[in-house]
Amino acid sequence: MLLEVRDLHISYGDIRAVNGVSFHLDQGELVSIIGANGAGKSSILNAIMGIVPLKAGSILFKGEEISSLPAHRRALSGIRMVPERARVFPRLTVFENLLVGAYRLRGKLPLEERISWLYELFPILGERKNQAASTLSGGEQQQLAIARALVSDPELLLVDEVSMGLMPKLVDRVFDLLGQLNREQKLSILLVEQNAVASLAVSHRAYVLETGSISYQGEAKDLMEDPEVKRAYLGR
Ligand SMILES: Nc1ncnc2c1ncn2[C@@H]1O[C@H](COP(=O)(O)OP(=O)(O)O)[C@@H](O)[C@H]1O
Ligand SMILES: [Mg+2]
Repeated sequence: MLLEVRDLHISYGDIRAVNGVSFHLDQGELVSIIGANGAGKSSILNAIMGIVPLKAGSILFKGEEISSLPAHRRALSGIRMVPERARVFPRLTVFENLLVGAYRLRGKLPLEERISWLYELFPILGERKNQAASTLSGGEQQQLAIARALVSDPELLLVDEVSMGLMPKLVDRVFDLLGQLNREQKLSILLVEQNAVASLAVSHRAYVLETGSISYQGEAKDLMEDPEVKRAYLGR
């Protein structure tokens, strides 16, 4: 197992956001956690990344307990996150935003090669490389946030609601791209999403998160056919 989360609990003061969530992701898998607004999706990713503390539970990455490591150590061990709402640095250029993704790894990475590869993957970023990130559209900033997370050649990519605020056409493009990265680069990806249709279509397995607990889990293709899941998440 690449990532194993056991009995995770997260609270904000009196608010219990995540109540005993367990799941795993194998090397090379694309796994989704689907859930409504407020279900606890971002809290889980932020806890894996080390941005919010966990109240109880355990997070194993490549078999090692990481839940007490600071966030930068987790990043250096090969975990990267595309945060909710594509938070990029607005006043830095596209190129400078990509350099931020190589934090403490410059010199260890074939950085120029990596960035040229990303410009091929996201042509718009190559065209706009010297422009401030704030001048990009929402969809373009989302692409920049993904590219920035990929600069360092992560082993595990965490993606927080990449569909949010994107036009439907762009949602499909971005999910296709994540599927392609998973197949061709063998990149392991954990998606959290409200958009169950789009995320199940590219996932191997999925978990359904309801108010801080997992209610269903299984192969993505089985979940797409499950009557309860259909009714609650797929609108059919
Ligand atoms: N910083 C915070 N302070 C207090 N409550 C929070 C905070 N972040 C999230 N919550 C609450 O925790 C619950 C889960 O939130 P979140 O993980 O953001 O869910 P999701 O990403 O699925 O929308 C919600 O009830 C939310 O209001
Ligand atoms: Mg969220």
